[in-house]
Amino acid sequence: MEIVVAHDAAGVAVTAAAQVVELVRRRPTAVLGLATGSSPLGLYSELVRHVQGGLDMSQVRAFALDEYVGLPPEDRRSYAAVIRTHVTEPLGLDPLRVRVPTGIGDDLDAACCDFEDAIRAAGGVDLQILGIGRNGHLGFNEPGSLFESRTRVAALAESTRRDNARFFDRLDDVPTLCVTQGLATIMQTRTAVLIATGAAKAQALADAVRGPVSTQCPASILQRHPHAVVIVDPPAAAALEVNDRMLSR
Ligand code: GLP
Repeated sequence: MEIVVAHDAAGVAVTAAAQVVELVRRRPTAVLGLATGSSPLGLYSELVRHVQGGLDMSQVRAFALDEYVGLPPEDRRSYAAVIRTHVTEPLGLDPLRVRVPTGIGDDLDAACCDFEDAIRAAGGVDLQILGIGRNGHLGFNEPGSLFESRTRVAALAESTRRDNARFFDRLDDVPTLCVTQGLATIMQTRTAVLIATGAAKAQALADAVRGPVSTQCPASILQRHPHAVVIVDPPAAAALEVNDRMLSR
């Protein structure tokens, strides 16, 4: 696991974007794993700058990590809408090559299997962008999720519902279920780039990077990923050991 402590949140975005840009230049049909939440928004904005400067992302294929059960893609609070607004449209991705797990339908289990098949058919994810929840979740793999888990319907932790209530009018409107790629799905990506900014993520990040590998902190599984890069700002790195922070650049 490589840990990069950037100067600030803007530096996190620039450093993470550089990884994506290098991949897309080398492989224009690269397969990206997309995260939602606030953490990757700076990275996506930085990529927009590169696209405006001539980077062509029209052949990139992408799979999003998760979705709320019950929200159709037209709903602005759905992750499908977030991906469309912050990634697909501004980066000029082909909407037919961007897939978000569906949270509506009669047979979500079958849809989850199809989603896994589609990732496999694409040859797997080259670079997975990840945020981390304050409870250490990856995607919507809440504490207790199995390391062997695949894309599935899962329950949201109450703390996650409270954290995400800011995107809804009231807490009661936050769905209780989600569809999320599993931890085993995430572990099969060739490169994983975890982004964290702000003091609220410091403890989860320290648990993920230096704590025991435990289902209580799902992100700790990344310690076993063959190529995981953790890019953070100083407040998010505050609970790391001095040795880790020495890796600053
Ligand atoms: C959300 C998403 C995750 C995201 C995390 C952190 O609920 N499901 O994929 O990484 O929680 O969100 P944020 O970046 O807004 O702190």
